[in-house]
Parts: sequence; C-alpha cells; structure tokens
Amino acid sequence: MVRKPLIAGNWKMNMTPAESVVLSQGISNRSARGWNKVDVVLCPPAIDLRSVVTVLDFDKSSIEVGAQNVHWEPSGAFTGEIGIPMLKDVGCSWCIVGHSERRAMFAETDMQVNRKVRALVEAGMKPIVCVGESEAVRDKGAAEAFVCDQVRAALAGVDADEAALCSIAYEPVWAIGTGRSATPEQAQSMACAIRRTVRDLVGEEVACGMRILYGGSMKPENAEAFLSCEDVDGGLIGGASLDADDFAALVKTAVDHV
Ligand code: 13P
Repeated sequence: MVRKPLIAGNWKMNMTPAESVVLSQGISNRSARGWNKVDVVLCPPAIDLRSVVTVLDFDKSSIEVGAQNVHWEPSGAFTGEIGIPMLKDVGCSWCIVGHSERRAMFAETDMQVNRKVRALVEAGMKPIVCVGESEAVRDKGAAEAFVCDQVRAALAGVDADEAALCSIAYEPVWAIGTGRSATPEQAQSMACAIRRTVRDLVGEEVACGMRILYGGSMKPENAEAFLSCEDVDGGLIGGASLDADDFAALVKTAVDHV
C-alpha cells in the first residue's frame, strides 16, 4: 500500500503569536507544486493556533494545523487545559499526544495518553502518538519491547476505524534536540516493529495504511535517508520546523519521494 507521507512541525514552546504569523507565512510562501502529495501539518503553541490558521486559510493553503496537547474532557474545571471542541472550533484537526517531553516533564502517563487518543478519535481528530525509549532502555536492549508496550497502551480500546485516524511518531528520547539522530536502520527496525504491533491490535489493513514517522534531530541533510526506509512515512520535526527554509526543504524531500 502506498502511504501519503506526513511531515509535521512541532514548534514546542516557541513563537509568539506575532512570530507565528511570520513563520507560517514563510512556510506557506515556500510551498510549491506537489506539496498536496504530502500531509503537511504545523503544530504551534495553542495560543498561536488562531493566527496560523488565519494565515493558511487566507493563502488557501493545503497545509494543516495541529495542537501539541489536549485534555480528554471536552470542558470543565481543568485550569490551564484545552479541550477538543476548542481545537476543532479554531480549525485544528491534528494533535500530538504523549510527546516524551510531556511524559518526562509533566508526568504524563500511558493511561492519560490513551484517554487523549480515545477522546480525539471519537471526535474525528487525527492524533500523532509519540513513542520512544530513553538511552538507558536502549542500552539494556529493551527498546523494542518498551516502544511496542507504549503503542499497545496508547491504542487500548481503540477500534480499527478509529486507529485509522492515528499516526505514530517514533522519537527516541536520546535523539530529540541533541543533533544525534537515530540511524535509518534503527528507525526502520522500530517502525517495522510498531507496524507489527498495530497489526496485532487492529488488523492488517489499518496497519498497512498507518503513517509511522521518525522524529529526533531530523533535518534536510538526513531526511532522505529516513524517508527511504520502507516503514518510515514521514517525520515529526522539532528544531528544523522553526526555520521556513529548512522545513520547506524537508517537505520537498518528502514530495520527491512520492
Ligand atoms: P528535534 O527535531 O528538535 O530533535 O525534536 C524532535 C521532536 O521532539 C519533535 O516532536
């Protein structure tokens, strides 16, 4: 099955609303023929979502917008949180879930990740579920078991139709923001294990169609090697998504791959 590549930019806690206009406009200006062959998603901080959507709508761009986090309840007394109806209202159809920074710094658990994934798919939104092992886990030789457990936990109770809305981003913690990416072989081997796990959970068809991304120090210079891997269908980009030229170059690499 041919999977449409997915290139998502995770801006993390960067860009004021004013700066988000400049960056999204810069990316939109660089979009070219063929970009619609790739799902391109910008995930700015929540406070920037409205501005970024406005820029992309004005340009009639095919680029879509995602959030970096969400609460599983639609509304209520959850100070500081954002609900799915709010994201939908602002024009956001994607959401990163379970990023390792949220797991490590905000104590997000597998169970919370699962609640978020289930709430998103029930609302018809598209979760980008992040999984990935620490260096210590890899050194013990337990990376695959650890990551596949995270996948099973995230997708617990999710049926095949709902899982078809999900993508999974394999982001080894030791490769995030370090400039030290995984090797394409490591990415391929984990992506293949993740796809096998998804197949066991929800069947061959959904597993074959699911986009599995690599993330962790992915940049224009190494993107080609990752995108050439059979089971790697795109990237979740941190640092390089904050530079319009770099991000556009990453999308172009994916476009050239289709
Ligand atoms: P870097 O691309 O900066 O390593 O970040 C990857 C990441 O965490 C994307 O979610």
